[in-house]
Amino acid sequence: MDKLVSLCKRRGFIFQSSEIYGGLNSCYDYGPLGIELKNNIKNCWWRAMTYHHANIEGVDASILMHPRVWEASGHVSGFTDPLVDCRKCKQRFRPDTLQTKMCPNCGGELTEPRLFNLMFKTFMGPVENQTAIVYMRPETAQGIFVNFLNVVNASRQKLPFGIAQIGKAFRNEITPGNFIFRTREFEQMEMQFFVRPGEDAEWFERWREERLAWHQAIGIRAEKLRWHQHDAGELAHYAKAAFDIQYEFPFGWQEIEGVHNRTDFDLGRHQEYSGKRLTYFDEERKEHYIPYVIETSVGCDRTLLTTLVDAYCEEPAGDEVRVVLRLSPKIAPIKAAILPLVRKDGLPELAHNIANDLMRAHRVFYDEAASVGKRYRRQDEIGTPYCITVDSQSLADQTVTVRERDSMTQDRVAMSALRGWLDERVRYD
Ligand code: GAP
Repeated sequence: MDKLVSLCKRRGFIFQSSEIYGGLNSCYDYGPLGIELKNNIKNCWWRAMTYHHANIEGVDASILMHPRVWEASGHVSGFTDPLVDCRKCKQRFRPDTLQTKMCPNCGGELTEPRLFNLMFKTFMGPVENQTAIVYMRPETAQGIFVNFLNVVNASRQKLPFGIAQIGKAFRNEITPGNFIFRTREFEQMEMQFFVRPGEDAEWFERWREERLAWHQAIGIRAEKLRWHQHDAGELAHYAKAAFDIQYEFPFGWQEIEGVHNRTDFDLGRHQEYSGKRLTYFDEERKEHYIPYVIETSVGCDRTLLTTLVDAYCEEPAGDEVRVVLRLSPKIAPIKAAILPLVRKDGLPELAHNIANDLMRAHRVFYDEAASVGKRYRRQDEIGTPYCITVDSQSLADQTVTVRERDSMTQDRVAMSALRGWLDERVRYD
C-alpha cells in the first residue's frame, strides 16, 4: 500500500486534500491521471448498466434532499455507529475496533458507548436553526426512490426495470482509513431494479452474477474476488437478503460492492411519509402494488483503489525493477503514448500528427524527452497499455512500432489503421 500511495501522489493519481494546509483527514483529490481513471470506471459502469440494458434509465438527483426523506429511509433514527470518547485525550473510537477497554492512544479512561449518527448536517437558508437542517445524502439510492414515479411516467418503462445513478455521498465515518478505501466523501454507482413481488429472489441472483462479471470485465482478477453473505446480525434495516462482493486487499478481504434485496421497504416508507401514492399499475395483472427492489451499490473510489491494487506489479528488468500497472486498457488513464525515437529528422512532426489525430478519440500522451527505454518505463508505471514509436522507417513506409505494456512485444502497424487499431483494444463494450 505504501508504494502505491507514493506512486499515486508522484504520478498524479491521488493527492491529499488541502495538502498545503496539512491535509484534511480522509479527504482526497484526484489528479490528472486519477480523474481519467475515475471517469473511465464510471463510464464502464454507466455503459454496462444503461446502454447494455434497454430497461435501465439514468438519473442525477441532487445531493440535498427534503429532510423527511431521511426520516422515511430510516437514516435519521438508525444510521448510527456506536462511539466511545477518551476522557483524557478526547479521541473517539468505535468500540468494536478496540482490543482493550482503555484508550489505545493515551491509555486514558473511555466513556460508555453512545450512538453517533453518520449523516453530515448543514443548514439551508440564512437561519441556522432546527427547522433549517438538511443532510448531505449518505447514499444516492434515495434520490432514485423519490423519483420512481417520475421515471415511470416519463420513460413509460414497465416492470421489471431499473434506475441507475452515479453521485457523491457523505458519511461522517468514525474510523475512515486505508487511503481512499473508507472516506467521508465518496462516490457511489447505484442501480435500483424494480420487480414484481415474488420475482425478487430470481432477479437478486441474476444481478449478483452480472455484477461479479463486471468487476472481472474491468480487469480485476477473479481469484481476488469472493462473495460474503450477510447473516441476520449484519443485514441492514431495509434488507431481506444481502451479499457483498469482497476483494482481497493488502489489509484483508473487504467489501467493494453490495447487492441487496430491499423489498418494498423504501417505496413503502416514502408512500407513508409523503402521503403520495407510489404504487405501480401492472397492466397484465390488472393490479396496483409497490414493487420490490434489487439494489446494486458499488463505491467508485473503492473500485478505483481495487483496480490500482490489483494492477500494481513489480518485476525484474535486467538490473532494475520494472513497475507496471497492469490496468485493463478499457480503464487505463492514458491509452497510448506517442514517442518519436529521436528529436530530429522530422520524427517529432510526424509523431505530433499522429497524436493530434488519436486525441480526437482517446486520451493520449506525446513524449519526446529522455531515451525511449526511460519513456517506456514512465508509461508502464502509470498503466499506459500501448507505446507508439515513430522511427526513420515510419517516414519511408508510413508504419509505426506499437509496444504492448505487459508482454513488451512490438508490432508494426500502418499509421492509417492506428485509430481503428487502438479503438478496438481500448473500447468498453
Ligand atoms: N445504498 C446502499 C448502500 O449505500 P453500503 O453498503 O452502505 O450500501 C455501498 O455502500 C458501497 O458504497 C460500498 O460497497 C462501498 O463500495 C461504498 N462505500 C460505502 N461507504 C464508503 C466510504 N465511507 N468510503 C468509500 N466508499 C464507501
